Amino acid sequence: MSLLDIAPVIPVVVIDDPETAVPLARALVAGGLPVIEVTLRTACALDAVARIAAEVPEAVVGAGTVRTPADVTASVAAGARFLVSPGSTPRLLDAMEEGGIPFLPGAATSSEVMALAERGLTEMKFFPAEAAGGMPYLKSLGGPLPEVRFCPTGGIRLQTAPEYLALANVGCVGGTWLTPTDALAAGDYARIEKLAAEAAALR
Ligand code: 3PG
Repeated sequence: MSLLDIAPVIPVVVIDDPETAVPLARALVAGGLPVIEVTLRTACALDAVARIAAEVPEAVVGAGTVRTPADVTASVAAGARFLVSPGSTPRLLDAMEEGGIPFLPGAATSSEVMALAERGLTEMKFFPAEAAGGMPYLKSLGGPLPEVRFCPTGGIRLQTAPEYLALANVGCVGGTWLTPTDALAAGDYARIEKLAAEAAALR
């Protein structure tokens, strides 16, 4: 099954305290969002991926903000089951293809989408979604490039997710709104589960 079709929303999470990784993942899974992208933006991100992979088998945990071949290697070693990148370079694409797990390369323009499609890649992240043209831009891409499907991410919230999900070329959306920093800091996993359940109900 494609990564884009497992759940309507991929929570993008920034983890500062590795102790929060497992309860956070359990809350998201309980709310109905098993696909979780842990961004490689904090020192403990790989540790968080490893903990979730080991202790929350119902979750499909991946690494986000993958920018270099070294990020690919480290993410796969930590147990990531998929990779997400904010943009795409030939060197990074080579590494992700060699990584042996599914990945969503980032693209923001028709030329970038076409370059990925030329390599046979037809599922990608549209980033930064709202800033790069949002739903109207993605809808326009669907005309000339109908075989490409997207996970738009960047500035999307519960209120705006449905307009993206209504497009034929959108499988799911990504976003950070499910894991507010204050809820994480307070250990309020019940609130995170509730936010996840609202998002899971979008489809
Ligand atoms: C990303 O890396 O995908 C973005 O940081 C998503 O963040 P946002 O949902 O808060 O825009």
